[in-house]
Amino acid sequence: MPKVLVLPGDGIGLEITPQAVKVLEAVLKNHSTSLSFEYGLIGGAAIDEAGKALPDETLAAAQAADAILLGSVGGPKWDTLPAPQRPELGGLLAIRKALGLFANIRPVKMLPMLVEASTLRPEVVKNVDLVVLRELTGGLYFGEKGRGTEPRSAFDTLIYTEEEIRRIVDLGFQTAAKRRGKLCSVDKANVLESSRFWREITLEVAKNYPDIELSHMYVDNAAMQLVRWPEQFDVIVTENMFGDILTDLASMLMGSIGMISSASLSGSKGLYEPAHGSAPDIAGKNIANPLATILSAALMLRYSFGLEQEAQKIEAAVERVLQEGYRTPDLAKPGDKVLGTKEMGNAVVAALK
Ligand code: NAD
Ligand code: IPM
Ligand code: MN
Repeated sequence: MPKVLVLPGDGIGLEITPQAVKVLEAVLKNHSTSLSFEYGLIGGAAIDEAGKALPDETLAAAQAADAILLGSVGGPKWDTLPAPQRPELGGLLAIRKALGLFANIRPVKMLPMLVEASTLRPEVVKNVDLVVLRELTGGLYFGEKGRGTEPRSAFDTLIYTEEEIRRIVDLGFQTAAKRRGKLCSVDKANVLESSRFWREITLEVAKNYPDIELSHMYVDNAAMQLVRWPEQFDVIVTENMFGDILTDLASMLMGSIGMISSASLSGSKGLYEPAHGSAPDIAGKNIANPLATILSAALMLRYSFGLEQEAQKIEAAVERVLQEGYRTPDLAKPGDKVLGTKEMGNAVVAALK
């Protein structure tokens, strides 16, 4: 039986992951594949209980698991710790690196019934259907870091190797080939050497994909174009930090940060988590939107277990619930039926039937 390691983490992670587990169990009820769920500690919760953001047992369990479902990590309680020990670096980045999860897929597709929920005009967002492929184990997040004393200073290094660029860009081309055939590589090649190198390698990889329409865009322009005319994008491939920033921005093309799912992959091994954080401002109130996590669970079925139909069943159930006018507060407009986190999870389960 395939094993799923569930790492709820901190803040709303504790509220949203149970909703996704419930949905996975429901969609696989009476199915020939069933998943076994195991639980572990990561982030602040792990610091408090085991003294470390990524305990050895958690990493071992993650290595042994077929897939991982993660909530979110971090919160004010741990913000004063030295950076390497914090939930974000010591927990999340550490597990991504240890498992070699270099490819972060963040789908951004506007659902018709949410067009009015976006802060952008309906005609701008109604046809949005793009995917951001974010490089996840290189770049500024993982380069050498340090501080100097004379004068006081600090630095982070942005390094990419040929191999790191090649594998993510290659996946970008493959992804585009299965979609509308357009790949936009986002960089800052007018300033950064690492970006010029990224472009060079991208152009080399492009020779293997003559049918894909490749474009290059500077990241500042990309941020502007994403709110100006997001339909122009099919697949975006970009380095770690640019992808981090652009995907929070892109989440609003779907109406809420609570809608953006993600898969972090190395082959079929994957970690699935919403792109948003632990939302300390709303944690513990049963008002967080669990749909990004539920949609991440659908990505797990698709990418780790090859259960495409079941993944689509989850996606269809989410759409049905939204179509009926149910919303968590982040998406709600006057007249909508507002549900709590748990109740939204239950509604998706009910809509599967
Ligand atoms: P955040 O994504 O947690 O929250 C930003 C805003 O979006 C908040 O107002 C929050 O209430 C709202 N929001 C986020 N998810 C939501 C949801 N599902 N439903 C409704 N509203 C939602 O970002 P932040 O405030 O910058 O960071 C908070 C903590 O989370 C920090 O410690 C940060 O490091 C961490 N973080 C973790 C992850 C992760 O674990 N993958 C991602 C981003 C941030
Ligand atoms: C994300 C988060 C993380 C990142 C943080 C919490 C380390 O913002 O998954 O987008 O920057 O990768
Ligand atoms: Mn982020």
